[in-house]
Amino acid sequence: MPYVMKPLTCDPMHLRGMSERLIVSHYENNYGGAVKRLNLIEEKLAEIEFATAPGFILNGLKREQLVAMNSKILHENFFDALGDDGKPGTAMRQAITRDFGSYERWRSQFIAMGKALGGGSGWVLLSWSHRDGKLVNQWAPDHCHTLADGRAILALDMYEHSYHIDFGAKAATYVDTFMDAIRWKNVEHRLTEATTQGRLGAQ
Ligand SMILES: [Fe+2]
Repeated sequence: MPYVMKPLTCDPMHLRGMSERLIVSHYENNYGGAVKRLNLIEEKLAEIEFATAPGFILNGLKREQLVAMNSKILHENFFDALGDDGKPGTAMRQAITRDFGSYERWRSQFIAMGKALGGGSGWVLLSWSHRDGKLVNQWAPDHCHTLADGRAILALDMYEHSYHIDFGAKAATYVDTFMDAIRWKNVEHRLTEATTQGRLGAQ
């Protein structure tokens, strides 16, 4: 079964501080590109004989498969977490306060990490660590860096394609705009899913 694009859950016409053109371009070209690439890679993988294929063919295809799979997943998290006013509810605030000391402290760290990647590329992830049972802010210089036992619940895309149309080189302004447009309800839902699955996994 080929992978299919997840429909946009946010309304690109009414996002705070970001244009429809930016969101639609990001969704169709970059997220859509990853999904198309993933399907092509999987077709190639289905054609080759693993036992006799040269190592460089296997290594290349499996590497590109991982890049495309993670790009797909992280972009889905990114778009799913957009479309509201950036104000978390009580449960999310409590979870963040428990693991970071305060919501404000978490927020300043997450923002600083995004701005530190400005001009480069990568992701800043708020991830749930199943191993340690806590939330962590995770640095990712590309699609392949994710915490080994982690589940990303909030993903900030710091690739230039995610902001250049609206913000040019002003990556810091984009980070502030993203923070004010987070749909925390969806992030909270993702955290609930992650913690529930963690408990099931421990049984
Ligand atoms: Fe992106």
